[in-house]
Amino acid sequence: MDKILLWSLLLICSGSQASRPLAQRNIEFAVDLYQAICLSHKDNIIFSPLGTTLVLGMVQLGAKGNAQEQIRQTLKLQENSTGEEFSVLESFFSAISEKRQEFTFNLANALYLQEGFTVKEQYLHSNKEFFQSAIKLVDFQDAKASAETISTWVESKTDGKIKNMFSGEEFGPLTRLILVNAVYFKGDWKQKFTKENTQLMNFTKKDGAAVKVPMMKALLRTKYGYFSESSVNYQVLELPYKGDEFSLIIILPAEDVNIEEMEKRITAHRILKWFSEMQEEEVEISLPRFKVELKLDFKEALYSLNITEIFSGGCDLSGITDSAEVFVSQVMQHVFFEINEDGSEAAASTGMNIPVIMSLAQNQFTANRPFLFIVKNSPTDSILFMGKVTNPDTQKMKARDLDSL
Ligand SMILES: *[C@@H]1O[C@H](CO)[C@@H](O)[C@H](O)[C@H]1NC(C)=O
Ligand SMILES: *[C@@H]1O[C@H](CO)[C@@H](O)[C@H](O)[C@H]1NC(C)=O
Ligand SMILES: *[C@@H]1O[C@H](CO)[C@@H](O)[C@H](O)[C@H]1NC(C)=O
Repeated sequence: MDKILLWSLLLICSGSQASRPLAQRNIEFAVDLYQAICLSHKDNIIFSPLGTTLVLGMVQLGAKGNAQEQIRQTLKLQENSTGEEFSVLESFFSAISEKRQEFTFNLANALYLQEGFTVKEQYLHSNKEFFQSAIKLVDFQDAKASAETISTWVESKTDGKIKNMFSGEEFGPLTRLILVNAVYFKGDWKQKFTKENTQLMNFTKKDGAAVKVPMMKALLRTKYGYFSESSVNYQVLELPYKGDEFSLIIILPAEDVNIEEMEKRITAHRILKWFSEMQEEEVEISLPRFKVELKLDFKEALYSLNITEIFSGGCDLSGITDSAEVFVSQVMQHVFFEINEDGSEAAASTGMNIPVIMSLAQNQFTANRPFLFIVKNSPTDSILFMGKVTNPDTQKMKARDLDSL
């Protein structure tokens, strides 16, 4: 089957979405997911909208009827579209493979099905081609062994960063199909922070208590914006990674603005506004090293976004397998993300504590309180990660990282 035909199969069903630009619709889905996850997570959050789109795209490819329709509506796939939506993924993957030496981006994407069911040949082929994903068979009846098999696979795909994704307790006698998505990203900053400038400083958590965190400091010319909307003030800062393929965007509410207040204001429209209105300026930046890691079953969040059918017996996944007994038990995603002076991965620091003398830059961006962040793929405006830091997790950092400060 050629590509064009397959794209049109992917997109054959209709939604009733207005023809908003593609980037906006992708971001709308990311924001919907964020709001749904927020309901059950009050502290640090990280997830990958892109990763979720990928696994749902995989299921959609093998789903029919209502099961497919719900996914299409939630992903905001368009009527009469000619493959536009998934072409983003294509350009994303090709950009990634071209610039592989600039950063590490590991995506482990798989659909695990109970042994004994037969996966349709066509489905295997198209998944491999479009989603760079795998369909694997395990025996969930042996919960421990299947958990180990899946965890080992994820670990090997993420440079050992994501371990023990499953324990086996998640699986039961009715487990037939689970979706697994793990994402690991490591990139160097385009402009690195100097380790010697990092200082221990107070970070004020949501409850008002202070924790000491290693605060990285730099005076940089970078994209920045100060926004003020009905007495809610906040700053947005963009830090590009080497290669200009990805960047980190930090949304920092003013001291008198509650992080939840800020969270409520996130919309696709606003995010696109930040992207377009930020200007290159000189900014004095203080940003904590931080590490966020989250393992999430999206079932609950997807339920609240009206994707329900794929989770119930009798749903039509006949593009995947002929059996009517197959439905999705879990949609598990595990993301690990870390920021330090070099970029987004750990490296032992041996810096000495040299005081920083900074010029009096007009703009000061001091992330010493909860903030939101986005990692975007710049050419496509797709959102790789989205999250919230309410407490930079320094507990698990190596003791010498802190001792050296
Ligand atoms: C989609 O296709 C249908 C039938 O082919 C047509 O009536 C409708 O106007 C099209 N909608 C858009 C948004 O192009
Ligand atoms: C940091 O927080 C501690 C504990 O709340 C407080 O005693 C100390 O004065 C703070 N330091 C600075 C520099 O604000
Ligand atoms: C889910 O479906 C209900 C009822 O059809 C609708 O009111 C609601 O807006 C939908 N929610 C989302 C997030 O699409």
